[in-house]
Amino acid sequence: MPPAQPHSIDIQPVGLRFEQRPGLSLLQSALTQFIQLPNSCRNGTCRTCMCKLKSGTVSYQIEWPGLTKEEKEEGWILPCVAEAQSDLVLEVPLAVDLKG
Ligand code: FES
Repeated sequence: MPPAQPHSIDIQPVGLRFEQRPGLSLLQSALTQFIQLPNSCRNGTCRTCMCKLKSGTVSYQIEWPGLTKEEKEEGWILPCVAEAQSDLVLEVPLAVDLKG
């Protein structure tokens, strides 16, 4: 079987794109591809990285990411502790292209 295609992450409205790296968080995956997302604690508590998931599915690396049930239902995620389970579209107005 050919290797599975990595999940691709689109960042709106800035129009950046990166791929989910196996075993890394979305935040770490983005950084390996020179895209910086807002972050501070990187362990799912401070909520600095909180952003809206417009489409797709994520799983969490920790049991209790710092989001309420309501926030999760509204589509908010914490990319510092989340991994893509499908292609994603994220809304991160403050994403920075470190290559640019
Ligand atoms: S960086 Fe603190 S919750 Fe994500």
